[in-house]
Amino acid sequence: MTNADLRQNQLQTNEFLNGRPVAKHSAAATAGVENGVFYHDPVMLKECLEGLNIKPNGTYGDCTLGGGGHSYAIASQLNEEGTLHAFDRDEEAVAFATKRLAGVKPKFVVHPVRFGELKNEIAPNTLDGILYDLGISSHQVDDSARGFTFVGNNPLDLRMDRREGISAQQWLKTVDADTLAAALRKNADMDRAFKLATRLIEMASATGDKDILPSDVKTVVESVFPDKRREVNGLLARVFQAIRMEVNGELKEIEDSLRAAVDCLKVGGRLVVMSYHSVEDRCVKETAAEFEKACICPENLPVCMCGGNHQRLKKVNRKPILPTNEEIANNSRARSAKLRVYERV
Ligand SMILES: C[S@@+](CC[C@H](N)C(=O)[O-])C[C@H]1O[C@@H](n2cnc3c(N)ncnc32)[C@H](O)[C@@H]1O
Repeated sequence: MTNADLRQNQLQTNEFLNGRPVAKHSAAATAGVENGVFYHDPVMLKECLEGLNIKPNGTYGDCTLGGGGHSYAIASQLNEEGTLHAFDRDEEAVAFATKRLAGVKPKFVVHPVRFGELKNEIAPNTLDGILYDLGISSHQVDDSARGFTFVGNNPLDLRMDRREGISAQQWLKTVDADTLAAALRKNADMDRAFKLATRLIEMASATGDKDILPSDVKTVVESVFPDKRREVNGLLARVFQAIRMEVNGELKEIEDSLRAAVDCLKVGGRLVVMSYHSVEDRCVKETAAEFEKACICPENLPVCMCGGNHQRLKKVNRKPILPTNEEIANNSRARSAKLRVYERV
């Protein structure tokens, strides 16, 4: 995320908070929403719908319901015989999108749980397509009371489901430096990870019973990167991303859910996954690659002993699909998106 992105995001946030219309949201952002309230602008909507290859009477899954932008568009392409299953672990998203999709034609089934629970919710070989629009929604970031943003001064929370697990500040007050440094490296490719982790833990312990605020994290980041003052917002975004991914167990959720999705899809069904940074994208690519191989024998075996018929996914597009320049100009949050489409074989 560049500083220009952050300024743009902040500009949109301020316009929204001040009650004025937010600049240039797509029509899909508010389609079907009572009073046209803005929640989230669905990214690469046309490309996602094409990737899902929707049959009007088919059964589809949206694992990241959010404000329901993608779901509403999928439902609009289904008829009364179709079904849409939607997942979100955030109760606010579930409430907003359930209302939005109340009048759609297909059967609409909401699963207000983690998408890592997919295999317990959906029967094998039943889906014609499944969509993941990973990460967090604009609403989660824009509502500073949710504690997702380093803009403003609300205590760090970063949980998508505030009923589950521990908040980011509780985690910082209990984690050890090695674990925190590993999370900073793994989830955000951070340099100086051990120094940063040590200082964050010192800061967390010095706050005692008081809340940890974004300004506390900023002071630490500035002290560890005194030579990168101009990049401080970008660094803060990555620190927040690393902590958020740990607090929500995001990479494990993606791995577990994608593996289950392969079982839930019918042969010919589509797996469509959109990620927003390299760590997420790598996780998607590597998990899908497990199912793209025909032979699953150990590498040191001189001849194939497994029968060589284990392939269950094939790529529909050789390279990930990227947003158009026009979409990026209208929605800066689309700029880092990468869409991967697979077919169950
Ligand atoms: C980028 S937003 C989706 C926006 C949505 N496509 C739309 O058009 O409004 C991602 C959503 O996925 C949810 N989410 C992320 N990880 C999840 C998980 N492991 N289980 C369930 N929901 C998750 C978040 O709470 C958030 O609402």
